[in-house]
Amino acid sequence: MKPITISNLQAMKSEGKKFACLTAYDASFAKLFDQQGIEVLLIGDSLGMVLKGKNDTLSVTTDEIAYHVASVAAGTENAFIMADMPFMSYATKKDAYANAKKLMAAGANMVKLEGGKWLEKTIKGLVQRGIPVCAHIGLTPQMVHVFGGFKVQGRQPSQAEAIVKSAQALESAGAQMLLMECVPTGLAKQVTEALTIPTIGIGAGKHTDGQILVMHDLMGVSANYMPKFTKNFLAETSSIAEAVQKYKNDVASGDFPDKSHSFD
Ligand code: KIV
Repeated sequence: MKPITISNLQAMKSEGKKFACLTAYDASFAKLFDQQGIEVLLIGDSLGMVLKGKNDTLSVTTDEIAYHVASVAAGTENAFIMADMPFMSYATKKDAYANAKKLMAAGANMVKLEGGKWLEKTIKGLVQRGIPVCAHIGLTPQMVHVFGGFKVQGRQPSQAEAIVKSAQALESAGAQMLLMECVPTGLAKQVTEALTIPTIGIGAGKHTDGQILVMHDLMGVSANYMPKFTKNFLAETSSIAEAVQKYKNDVASGDFPDKSHSFD
C-alpha cells in the first residue's frame, strides 16, 4: 500500500466513502493504528489534556507537537499525518510560517489551525508556501476561555450561518480539509454538502466525510471525563487492535457516530 495523500481523501469524499482518523502521539500506537488502516493520524494539542493532564490545551508548545510528530512519523507507513498548531503559534503570519515549517520538517503532511474567517490570509500564505492546511471550526478548544467552557457551537441560527460562511471562506482561502467539533448534526451536514474538500467531525454527527476520536477516548482511558461524543470501543472488543478495527469499520459503515454521540 502507498502512503495516503490528500488526493486519496478527496477521492473518498467524491466516492461517498467515510474515512477514520485518530489522534496519536507516539511511534508504537501510530504503528498499531496504521496497521489497522486508520487513514489519518492527528498529533493533536489534546496532548495537553491527555498526556500532560491539564484542563485545557493552552500550555502546549510547537516544540512539544514537533517532538510527537517525529515519533508518530517514525511508526507510520501509510496514514496521512496531520499536526496541530498550538495556541498562539499562528497569531501572526510570520509565526505561522516559522512554526508550520517546524511541524512539516518533523514529518507532518498537513497542519491544523483553529479559527474562522480571520485565518483566511494565514491559510492562503501557508498554502502558497507549500504547507497544506486543515481548518478547525465549531468548538475550537483554544478559545475555551472566550466560549466560557467546552460548549456546542452553532445552535443559534446566526451562529450557524456564520459557521457555514466561515467554512466556505476557509475553503476559498485554500484549506484542503475542514474539521468540525461539537456542532449540531444538521449544520455539519449542510457544511459537508456545501464544500468540495473533505470534512472531519467530532461531536458533529454522522454526515461528515471522516470522523476523529482522541485515542484515549476510544480506549476509555481519559484522565478527566468521557464527553458524550466519544465511545469506548475497547469495552466491546478484546484487544486494542480489535477496538481500532471496530472503530474504523463502524465509521465506514455509518454505524458510528449514532444519535447518542451527536448534538441537535
Ligand atoms: O487536539 C485534538 O486532538 C483535536 C481533536 C479533538 C480533533 O483537535
